[in-house]
Amino acid sequence: MTKSAEQRKLLGILGHKLAHTLSPVMHTASCNKLNLNYTYGVLDISPEMLAGTVSAIRKTGFRGINVTVPYKQSIMPLIDEVTEEATIIGAVNTIVNDAGKLIGYNTDVFGVQISLKPYADRIQGNHVIVFGAGGAARAVCYAVAKYFTPKQITVANRTSAKAEVLANEFSKKFPSITFFCAKNDQEAKRAIESASVIINTTTLGMSPQTHLHPLPQNSEIHKEHIVFDIVYNPIETTLLKLARKAGATAITGIEMLIGQGAKAFELFTQQPFPTETARDAVFKELTQSTIS
Ligand code: ATR
Repeated sequence: MTKSAEQRKLLGILGHKLAHTLSPVMHTASCNKLNLNYTYGVLDISPEMLAGTVSAIRKTGFRGINVTVPYKQSIMPLIDEVTEEATIIGAVNTIVNDAGKLIGYNTDVFGVQISLKPYADRIQGNHVIVFGAGGAARAVCYAVAKYFTPKQITVANRTSAKAEVLANEFSKKFPSITFFCAKNDQEAKRAIESASVIINTTTLGMSPQTHLHPLPQNSEIHKEHIVFDIVYNPIETTLLKLARKAGATAITGIEMLIGQGAKAFELFTQQPFPTETARDAVFKELTQSTIS
């Protein structure tokens, strides 16, 4: 084996149905820019293979893993340590393999923070509605509650029992904020009317099912709304198209992708993330896939 092959380390993304992911493009471009000897792979595995895959990651040359849909919560009991913040959130999206010890972090929080920062004064004291109740929704609720202090966060999800669990849990973590679970479309529509911010954390709208969006039928977006879709492929989702048509403020998932990726990259490599290189690589890939 050559010296360079010996030193090569592995990074990867772990999830299921990963056709949409741009993490390999972003991290590979970043490693190349800094001349780092990493290979980035895609681990698209079914749920019954999760435990075995985690155990293989622990024993092989993987330095780090980005975790995505649908494993941000179910991976937690399978790893060795979880940071205090990721424990409070109840979701892990980044794992560092520290000589066989798998440590879980949540870097989505930073992605949410930088995406919403320009709109902080329109969130504080107002009402935010979050669609979805998975790991991404947990990071969004945590980041919004901790850094933007709205008066209310309503959670709406296809499986409303999950939204209820999330709302109850977060009510205890952030007692000064009202967490409400929208149990049906009527309640979600009422919440949209009074909300200043609408956030999609579900996979609805993601390529290849780009025609979907999470809002109940006949929901009305108005021009004072801020609409943030964490789906980044396509850049302008159906939800964001509706927002733009209504004259609302539309926030794409690109800064979230780059923000969470930056923090993960720094944990994996201990090097500063080359943000512009990463952004260029992501846009190039998205533009090409839109054209083809
Ligand atoms: P992650 O942890 O990455 O957020 P997840 O836990 O699988 O991934 O969460 C995905 C979210 O998208 C969930 O809120 C899921 O709703 P359920 O809790 O009802 O499964 C939502 N989602 C996925 N596909 C959906 C669909 N076809 N319609 C509505 N919601 C959907």
